[in-house]
Order: sequence, then structure tokens, then C-alpha cells
Amino acid sequence: MLGNFSYCNPTKLYFGEDSLNYLNEELQKYGKNVVLVYGGGSIKKNGIYDEVIEILKKNGKNVAEIAGVMPNPTLAKLYEGVEIAKSHQADLLLAVGGGSVCDYSKAVSVSVNCKEDPWEKYFIRFEEPDCEVIPVGCVLTMVGTGSEMNAGSVITNQDTKQKIGHVFADEKIMPRFSILNPGYTMTLPKYQMVSGIYDIFNHICEQYFSGEDDNTSDYMSEGLMRSLLKSSRVAVKNPQDYEARSNIMWTATWALNTLVAMGKSADWMVHMLGQAVGGYTNATHGMTLAAVSLPYYRYIMPYGLEKFKRFAVNVWNVSPEGKTDEQVAREGLKAMENWMNELGLVMNISELGANEEMLESIADVTFPMSGGYKELNRDEILRIFKESLQRKFTKKSHQEMSV
Ligand code: NZQ
Ligand code: ZN
Repeated sequence: MLGNFSYCNPTKLYFGEDSLNYLNEELQKYGKNVVLVYGGGSIKKNGIYDEVIEILKKNGKNVAEIAGVMPNPTLAKLYEGVEIAKSHQADLLLAVGGGSVCDYSKAVSVSVNCKEDPWEKYFIRFEEPDCEVIPVGCVLTMVGTGSEMNAGSVITNQDTKQKIGHVFADEKIMPRFSILNPGYTMTLPKYQMVSGIYDIFNHICEQYFSGEDDNTSDYMSEGLMRSLLKSSRVAVKNPQDYEARSNIMWTATWALNTLVAMGKSADWMVHMLGQAVGGYTNATHGMTLAAVSLPYYRYIMPYGLEKFKRFAVNVWNVSPEGKTDEQVAREGLKAMENWMNELGLVMNISELGANEEMLESIADVTFPMSGGYKELNRDEILRIFKESLQRKFTKKSHQEMSV
């Protein structure tokens, strides 16, 4: 634990089957004007919309709506939402949905009173807001991103095909409260469930594969990964298993609420590769990560051999007896690959809509990161994409998962 840090996470969490009741308490802390933000309609089908509206009405709120926030929310949609929140003089943005809806609400929150173009200020120049921000509260319905307890916001500019995330430093941007009811995630299609599971796993990996010091955060990461492996194997066989789904939900929150990054650097290169693919294909976030991960980790493994060996032993139970460090590390990555296949994750970017002709352009919008074991140059980035593109299709048909 060599780094210096300060730690504060102000998001209040309510977890469990009764957690929506606490929305009553929370609403009393804010003014009358609430903007309800949601996605393409899943909350109307599964009844969450009606439950939330009833509570808002009971508390005498004056409600406007931003509906139709798409997965990988776009800049055009952000401009639209800013106008709605402005004209409604929003006192609270209530996000009801997955990471896209939560991220989007944070982007609206910092943009309503912003005097400049939010894309340029927040997503190109990565500046912090210098205007008043609107508080955000979340009711989470999709598990994976950790957006419910962090200050991250990812927006896609469809004109330039750039998908860019800004993790704001100002903790005011974190949701003021988040309601986590594992029961709300039960209607997720399996494709989204497993994609979210891999997103969680990779968030942990991004913060784990860095540095050589002995670090408390890494032990926490190993525990979270072990829990996730166990619960994911249960959930993929029986998605209605509440115990597994609740563990997965809780793991997701801790995987990316800044805790396990404390005192160390972090990599985030898989996310940069995945986001670049996402900007071109609009593919599901967790699947873009799954498709590039193994070519990336196999490539950087020699530069962080000790950690990859530890990962194999502590996370995947690989026995190091009589083997070289490299053999142990490779076995760990093989075990990870087997688990990814068990889940039915997409393992190549061609299955997500990328093709050979796109690769140069995708490489052009990929940010190289320097916090991990190796900073990739453009040729290496291209090599990872090519390897992913050439991987064999996975055995499981993703169409079977009712995408
Ligand atoms: O739009 P609706 O109809 O609600 O359907 C959604 C959407 O199609 C559906 N869904 C959500 N809850 C459901 C449900 N369907 C049935 N039942 C439910 N209970 O699931 C689909 C995907 O939702 P989305 O919010 O897009 O998924 P996710 O939570 O994975 O969020 C992805 C976005 O978050 C960003 C990603 O880049 C992407 O834009 N990320 C945000 C991060 C952060 N804030 O820290 C970090 C992540 O690494 C990630 O980059
Ligand atoms: Zn992610």
C-alpha cells in the first residue's frame, strides 16, 4: 500500500427487496420538481415504473420525464434531456434503469447549468463542473457498471463515433442515493445478465493488474472475484436464484465504487479497447470487454508475470507445484477463458459487428493507458483487435439468449 489517497463515497445505499420504500424518505430531501429518467421501456413492462410513479405522486412531486435513454447513451440524447431538465427546473433527477440511465442522468446533472458545450468541456477536455449540479438518485435495474455508486459517465458522440467516459473527481456527481433491489434485475435477458457479470469481473481486473507492492486493495479484489465466480455459475444455470443475483448486485457496486483502486494505480486498457469498439458498433458494453480481454491479457502477461501467477493461484485455484511461473499464469488465463465460455460471453469483436476494414479507425480512437503493466502503442492495439477478430466463434449461440 504505497499510494497516498483520500477516500469519500457519499452515496447512500438501500439494498434488498424492500429498498424502494426508502424512496419516500429520500424524496423529502429535495424540492418539488423531479425528472424521472428511464430507458426504452423495460420498467413499464416489469411494473417498476408504476411503483415509482405511485411513490412520486404520494410525495406530491411535480414529475417530468426523460424517456428512451438508449444503451450507450448519445450526445444528441444528452442535449435533449438538458432542455427537459432545464424547462422543468429540476430539483432531482431520478434515474430508473441500468448504467446507461444512471450515467446519462449524471451527464444531464452537470450540463443543465453549464455555460459551455458539455461534450467539449466534460468529455474532450475532462474538466470538472464549475456550475451548480442537479442531484441524482438511482433505482438500479441492471447490474454491472457500478454507476450507482460512482462518478462515472460514459457518452457516445455518434457523429465522431467516440465513446468517452469521464470519471468526475467531484463527489457531488455521485448519486446521492441508490436503491438496489436484486429482484428488479430478474427480468433482464440472459445476454444482459452475463454481459453485466463480465463487466463487473473486468472492473476488478482493471484495478488488480497493476503495481507490484503488497496492497490491501488486491486482497479485497480477489475476494470479490471469488464471490462473483461462484454466484455467476449459479445464476447462469438458474437466473432466478435470488441469493446469487443479490451477491452479484453487491459485488458490482464494490467493484467500481473507487474502494479497490485506493492506494494503487489502475490499468483500464481493456475498457479503452472495448469502448473504441463500442463507438463503432454500439455493441453491449460488457461484451465488448469480453471480446478483447484474452488477447490483451495474454499479451501483457509477461510484463506482470508475478501478478498473473497470483491471479491464477488465488482466484482460479491453480496449483503452482512443479510448474514455471509462466505455466501457472497461463493456466489461470485458461481457467478464465473456460469460465467466460461457460457464461456464453462473446469472445470476438467480429460477432459484435466489427470487421477488418474498421480496425484502423477503431485503433485511432483507442486511448492508450499507462497505469497497467505495459503501455500499448498503436501497432500493439491493432494487434489485439486483429487477434480478437480472428478468434473462433464461441460455442454457445447468443441468439439463444434472447438478446
Ligand atoms: O432501456 P431498457 O428498456 O430499460 O432496457 C435495458 C437496456 O436495453 C435493459 N434492462 C435494464 N434493466 C432491465 C432491462 N431489461 C429487462 N429488465 C430489467 N430489469 O438492459 C439493456 C442494457 O441496459 P444498460 O443500462 O445500457 O446496461 P449497463 O448497465 O451495462 O450500462 C452500460 C453503459 O454504462 C457505461 C457503458 O459504457 C454503457 O454506456 N459504463 C459506465 C460506467 C460507470 N459509470 O462507471 C463504467 C462501465 O465500465 C461502463 O463503461
Ligand atoms: Zn465496464
